Amino acid sequence: MKINELRKKYLEFFKQRGHAIIPSASLLPENDPTVLFTTAGMHPLVPFLLGEPHPKGKRLANCQKCIRTTDIDSVGDTTHLTFFEMLGNWSLGDYWKKEAITWSYEFLTSKEWLGLDPDKLSVTVFAGDEDAPRDTESAEIWKEVGIPEERIYFLPKEDNWWGPAGTTGPCGPCTEMFIEVDEIPKCGPDCKPGCNCGHYVEVWNDVFMAYNKREDGRYEPLKQRNVDTGMGVERTAAMLQGVPTVYDTESFLPLITRIKELSPKEEFTEQDNILCRVIADHVKSAVMIMADDRRISPSNVEQGYVVRRLLRKSILSAEKLGIGSGFLQELAEIVIQMYRNIYDETERNREFIMKNLEDEEKKFRNSLKKAMRKLQRVIDESGTVTGKDAFLLFTSFGLPLEITREIAEEKGIEINLEEFKREFEQHREKSRTATQGKFKGGLADHSEEITKLHTATHLLQEALRRVLGESVRQMGSNITKERLRFDFTFPRKLTPEEIKHVEDLVNDAIKRDLEVKREFMSYDEAIASGALAFFKETYGDKVSVYSVGDFSREVCGGPHVQRTGVLGHFKIVKQKKIGAGLIRIKAILE
Ligand code: SER
Repeated sequence: MKINELRKKYLEFFKQRGHAIIPSASLLPENDPTVLFTTAGMHPLVPFLLGEPHPKGKRLANCQKCIRTTDIDSVGDTTHLTFFEMLGNWSLGDYWKKEAITWSYEFLTSKEWLGLDPDKLSVTVFAGDEDAPRDTESAEIWKEVGIPEERIYFLPKEDNWWGPAGTTGPCGPCTEMFIEVDEIPKCGPDCKPGCNCGHYVEVWNDVFMAYNKREDGRYEPLKQRNVDTGMGVERTAAMLQGVPTVYDTESFLPLITRIKELSPKEEFTEQDNILCRVIADHVKSAVMIMADDRRISPSNVEQGYVVRRLLRKSILSAEKLGIGSGFLQELAEIVIQMYRNIYDETERNREFIMKNLEDEEKKFRNSLKKAMRKLQRVIDESGTVTGKDAFLLFTSFGLPLEITREIAEEKGIEINLEEFKREFEQHREKSRTATQGKFKGGLADHSEEITKLHTATHLLQEALRRVLGESVRQMGSNITKERLRFDFTFPRKLTPEEIKHVEDLVNDAIKRDLEVKREFMSYDEAIASGALAFFKETYGDKVSVYSVGDFSREVCGGPHVQRTGVLGHFKIVKQKKIGAGLIRIKAILE
């Protein structure tokens, strides 16, 4: 069965059982500073799992794009990926274990649906501990649907508890479904689901989310009992297609085939095959992250840093296979073709993606060349490579330790890893101190300066749209007591005349001493009333809309001043092009 059919069947199955089908949320969570990416379908649903009513009702299902970097070092084995899709169904305080388990079993084994062999199905349930009881209820239901006792395993929290997605929030015991793969033999007499040898592959997880993890680490019962299930699309497809790895499904084959064509190698060792898989996985993830309308470029911070790491690892792996420049864009094109009909942002942001790939590859290949020359000099001059040398090559040229080590070892030189680690730790300590206070000035800071700059940001956004056109979109905003920073989409820097015009519009709105008003309404009403809103998927049911006189109207959580007269004089102090089609402005109030 092809992946398209799997998606369709899953959603159809749950639609027939009263579920509303909702779109995939963005890969970049907007209101959760504890994680960089959406890691599961439940993640964007947290407010609703906590009890807020969902506009589409109590039964939902979807196919969610996910990124997980925790398993990045396992990428290239048979099942691990950094970008994957997850099919999921949710009960928000509606049905419970009986329905969830019965439906999971029916969908997996019924000939009408996936038709997997029930004899190959094993399940795990929660063994119980001081936080929550042993889940004998789920085990009984599994027996009733037909799973014999010897294929039901009770496992502890490490295996059978899911969540929260960040550090706090909804979570609970889960029951996981595994399919036995005949081609991979059991690793021994104790082989069982969860042992990672590859014989048992997890395809679906039903979480019974009845707990909330608090900041103090304790678990309290949630207002409502929820079900959160997740089925890995690529893994299930591999199972249904009878292929040995997720890389043998149509979501990877075109990429792997092209990578092999691009390499001058004629024979591919097992190690080479893993490199091909790493490239395919990493390029796909980087493209899917950059496809987001919030436009993340490779950088040294947060999501941008992950993109950079993924791309650099791909370039290094490509080097080892003898693949030259330009391959990132070629592979990106295949990724876009693969997903454009399901995730149209891939097509919409194609130019941005391609430009960033080109820039990043050029930059990194240049650095690599310089780093190699520097390394050669170090070796020629001192006959060795110290841990400190390796660290400098890493920080100044981006040359990863593994490469420096490989080259040094070829020349019979061993690097002092302890010394490298010491340098690394010292550096980390320094940058940690530097980033402390980073979250000050966020929405939780209601000081007078911050509040004023927040209102000025709304005025600036509106002025930019009036001067530069409606295609201007907010991509990021950051406020400290001293200044505001605003990132937005625009292809070039502003001319001095445009800057002046924007400043004049803002200052005029300040002089008119406009009243700032807050209203609550549904998201649709807000849009209908002309309010600006980005990041749609992250808003709850009722949104708050701030309007500044007749000048601007925006969905926002506040805080804001009451009248614009108090803002003083607005001035743009800096502008910078920070990426393809992305401009950053810094401004102050005097
Ligand atoms: N949140 C659970 C998981 O990711 C089920 O969707 O496995």
